[in-house]
Amino acid sequence: MMPDADAEMLSLNPSLVLRVEWEVRRKDRGRTRFTMRFPDDVPLVQWLLGTLQAAHAGEGGEREVELSSDILDAAIEKGLLVAEDALPGEESSFACRLDPALLALVPEEDMIALRTACEETGIVLNPACCIQETDDPPQDERVRLGAALWDHLGGDFAQEGRLETTARRGLPPLETSYRLWVPHPFTEAMQPVDMDRSSSDELRAGSIDCEKLAAATRDMLLATHVLIPRPTDESRARDADRIERLRDGLKTDGYVVVRNVLSPLQVAAMRRHFRTLHASGNFTSYEVPSLGARDGIYCDFVSVLFQDQLTRFIGKVVDEPIKPSFTWHFHYRDRAVLTRHIDRPQCRWNVSLAVDSNADASRAGAWSLHFETDQGAHSVRLGPGDAVVYSGTDTPHWREPLPEGHTAGVICLHYVSANFDGSLR
Ligand SMILES: [Fe+2]
Repeated sequence: MMPDADAEMLSLNPSLVLRVEWEVRRKDRGRTRFTMRFPDDVPLVQWLLGTLQAAHAGEGGEREVELSSDILDAAIEKGLLVAEDALPGEESSFACRLDPALLALVPEEDMIALRTACEETGIVLNPACCIQETDDPPQDERVRLGAALWDHLGGDFAQEGRLETTARRGLPPLETSYRLWVPHPFTEAMQPVDMDRSSSDELRAGSIDCEKLAAATRDMLLATHVLIPRPTDESRARDADRIERLRDGLKTDGYVVVRNVLSPLQVAAMRRHFRTLHASGNFTSYEVPSLGARDGIYCDFVSVLFQDQLTRFIGKVVDEPIKPSFTWHFHYRDRAVLTRHIDRPQCRWNVSLAVDSNADASRAGAWSLHFETDQGAHSVRLGPGDAVVYSGTDTPHWREPLPEGHTAGVICLHYVSANFDGSLR
C-alpha cells in the first residue's frame, strides 16, 4: 500500500469480478460444484467462512456461529451440511487381486474361450511378466506410473487441483503382496495383478506345473493372462493377420471392434472399482440435452493408466503414430441418450471401452453405439472388456436412449496424431 494513501480517497475497483465457488461430494448425488449468487448467497458464505475460521482455530477456539433457518436450508441444499448417511466415502485405490469374488464377475463365455484356446495348444506361464516388489515403480520401460501419466495434459493440470478431484489414487501399497505386471497377449497392455508372496515366488521360480493346478486357480490365472495358451508360429501369424484386418476394417468403415482388449479379471476389477467410486459420491453428474443423464470422472487414474498402456496397440490399428489426449469414465443412467455428433479435434481417435452394464453383461444385451458410414448406419454392441475404435472427428456416432432400469459403464480413451500441437485436455 502507498504510505500516504487515505482510505477515504479510494474507491472500490469497478472492474471487480467476484467468483466464489465450492465443490462438495455426497453419496447420493456425487460431486457437485456451486457458485455463489450475489447478493442472495452472501449470508450463507459469511456463515461458511465463520464456520471454517472456527474450525481452523481448533482447540478452545470454537465459537458459536449463527445459523438461521434460511442459512440452514441453503447449506443443506448446496451440500455444505450433510446427514451421516450421505457423507461421501473416500476415493479408493485400484487393485486387481486373485479374488474368487472378482472371478465370479467374469462372463462365462470369456472363460470358455480362454479354456478352449489352451486345450488346443497347451498352457504356459506368460513369459513377459514383470514383478514389482516395492512401492517404487518397476524398472521396466513398459510401465509408466505416478504424475508422469498426466504430464501430457500440461504441468499445471496437477497444480490446478484437477488431480485432487479425479480419483487420482493409484495402486495400493504393496505391504505383504507383490505386483505382477502382465502383458496382454494381443494388445500388449501391461496389467497390474496383486498377489500374495507365496504365489509370486512360485511364479518367479517358474515352478508352477500348469497341468496340475486346481481348476479354480487355473481359471483365475488364465483370467489375468498370467497363464496363456502356448504361443505357436500359427498363433503369431493369426495375431498379425488380426491386426491387418482391424486396420482394414477401420479404413473401410470408419470404426472397428476389438474384443477383450484387457484381461477379463482386470475388467472385473475395474467394474468393482468404478462401482465403489460411484457409490461413494466420486462421480460428477451431468444432465446435458445432447448427452443425456450421465455421471463422469475426467482423467481418473485407471482410465489414464490403460489409455497409456493401449497407445502402442491403438497406433497399430489406426496405422499412424499417435499420443494420448484425455479420458472420461462415464456411468450412463437409464434414459441417457447421445445425439448424433462428431467430436472435437482432441478426439481424433476414440476408443470406447465397455466396463460395466447392470442389466445384462452379455454382448447380445449390451447398449448399442451407432455409426454413420459410407455404407449406411451400423451398430455395435460391446461386452465388458470390448472396445470400438473410431475416428471421433470424422465418423458421426450416437446412442438411442438407454432403457429404463439399465445403466452402462464406459471408458472413453482419446488419442490424437503424434504431431497434433493443440491442447490435449
Ligand atoms: Fe463423441
